[in-house]
Amino acid sequence: MSLSAIDRLCFALDYPDLDSALPIARRLAAEVGVLKIGLELFLREGPRAVAELARLGPRLFLDLKLHDIPATVAGAVRSVGALGVDFLTVHAGGGKAMLEAAAHAASEVSASRPLTLLGVTVLTSMDDAELHGVGVGDGAASQVARLGRLAIDSGLGGLVCSVEEVAALRGALGAAPVLVTPGVRPAGAAVGDQRRVGTPATAIESGSSILVVGRPIRQAPDPVAAARAIRVEIGEALGSRS
Ligand code: C5P
Repeated sequence: MSLSAIDRLCFALDYPDLDSALPIARRLAAEVGVLKIGLELFLREGPRAVAELARLGPRLFLDLKLHDIPATVAGAVRSVGALGVDFLTVHAGGGKAMLEAAAHAASEVSASRPLTLLGVTVLTSMDDAELHGVGVGDGAASQVARLGRLAIDSGLGGLVCSVEEVAALRGALGAAPVLVTPGVRPAGAAVGDQRRVGTPATAIESGSSILVVGRPIRQAPDPVAAARAIRVEIGEALGSRS
């Protein structure tokens, strides 16, 4: 997939309601290629958030991180399909039957606006110690490789992983999967609750398709300038990758 620098920048609209999300989304619509609607916004505003943001132009990513039994997740994917978004997340840890049911439901969504399912491997806020606490003893790199392979073999179109794992996944899975990396931090930016982070240039050089950026843009004194600077860094890294 040949994506431009703007196509590769996704802004996480982590706001409590549309009154706060829409003004910043409008300002950033010319700087980013994807807007991500997360749980905070969707649980308050519902489908209205999708309808309002769809007018702005960027592609839409509904980050619901579905994780339930196969029939329930398939039904949820069908409901999201009717909304008309471009990307939807499901937890790869839900297992093969759940992932296959989700992929089948997504394949039946309107061909005019295909829905790409992204499997969340390991949250970028988790490190090896946290994984140990939930029974995963062999660390993030192994767990991401295992779940990434499972999700792609089950028919998903892409994965969410950290910048630290994206090169290994790209090497193992080839050029086709859409690899989405949150936990992106320009050099010197605050890390916050993220644990596995990387710069925009490293993400691109490592084979990331789309970079999700929230706080480094949202909390910047000038969010438009911050987004533009990240886009320029992505463009430069693409130039040196090709
Ligand atoms: O503010 P920040 O740049 O850390 O935002 C990252 C965004 O990416 C958040 O909306 C978060 O929900 C999302 N995300 C993540 N790790 C994942 C999947 C999604 O941080 N594995």
